Amino acid sequence: MAACIVRVELADRSYEIAIGPGMLASAGHALREAGCRRGVIIADTGVLATHAATVEGSLRHAGLETLMLPVHRGEASKSVSEAERLWEAMAEAAVDRGTHVIAVGGGVVGDLAGFVAATFARGLPVWQVPTTLVAQVDSAIGGKTGINLRAGKNLVGAFWQPRGVIADIDTLRTLPEREYVSGMAEVAKYGMILDELLFERLESRAGAILARDPVELGAIVRRSAELKASVVSRDEHERTGLRAILNYGHTFGHAYENAVGYGTLLHGEAVAIGMADAAELAVRIGRIPADLALRQDALLTALHLPTRLPPGPKPSPEDLVALMARDKKTLHGRLRFILPTRLGEVELVDGIDSSVVLDVLNRLS
Ligand code: GLY
Repeated sequence: MAACIVRVELADRSYEIAIGPGMLASAGHALREAGCRRGVIIADTGVLATHAATVEGSLRHAGLETLMLPVHRGEASKSVSEAERLWEAMAEAAVDRGTHVIAVGGGVVGDLAGFVAATFARGLPVWQVPTTLVAQVDSAIGGKTGINLRAGKNLVGAFWQPRGVIADIDTLRTLPEREYVSGMAEVAKYGMILDELLFERLESRAGAILARDPVELGAIVRRSAELKASVVSRDEHERTGLRAILNYGHTFGHAYENAVGYGTLLHGEAVAIGMADAAELAVRIGRIPADLALRQDALLTALHLPTRLPPGPKPSPEDLVALMARDKKTLHGRLRFILPTRLGEVELVDGIDSSVVLDVLNRLS
């Protein structure tokens, strides 16, 4: 696959997503062209010796000074204490406004580094260099940054659009199988909510996709980036309800993640189960035929994603509904969900009766 560019149109904050193989080595050139003199690389420890080292080499080759700040893998790093450690390290290194922050890793590093960049010195330019599938197709695009509090995920954060996104699809070829498959849930989500043709492509080429065929990887990352860019361009701050459709499967999914503990279930796995629940809910309230829910289940299964919680102790449906009621997407205590109306189209549906949601969850026990 040749490299391609997808633009996120946001007036004077527009930026490009560069997608292709071997892109990490182009980071230095891109940053120098953007006026960067020094790069603070905030990198997942899991990719420090590999992808982050390539980015660092590229920056140095382009004549930029670099500072590498590793961050431990895992959701626990999205914390106030970790943000403080990075702010202090940057202050100690006399980071100034000619410095750009570069996030290298998955969603955790992207959210944390983006938030640190948004807040240090009242805002430094940030570049997202996602090295996981979920980050390349979703979290690195659109400027959502944040950290967690004990009271909940992403409760402190900022919209801070990156200066650019560099998505090197070669990084996907070495991802652990479970992590790669988990990211595919967000791709299936785009098909379900916005793009029937993407959904059909996933159905017909699941084998090649699971084998990480480079042509498939390039096509999937590109189409997902185009869809996300289009949504973000039209509803950057999630005000019109359009951006909220990206949360399809996430209200159920977040409740599962919260109930079973982050890390037990990968984010994409929780989203896949949440998509199955959301489709079932849509069937029960007469919004879609049962066939469509079955078709979505079949695709998720073909992509090796779960549609039910794994065997073992399960959270009670009542506890899950209580968690959903605390979710940011509830309004005045009423449950609201993104639900399909047909393949490739969803709507935000308000005022769902919790007894129907309990029925959906009870079908599993
Ligand atoms: N991941 C959902 C969004 O960026 O809005």
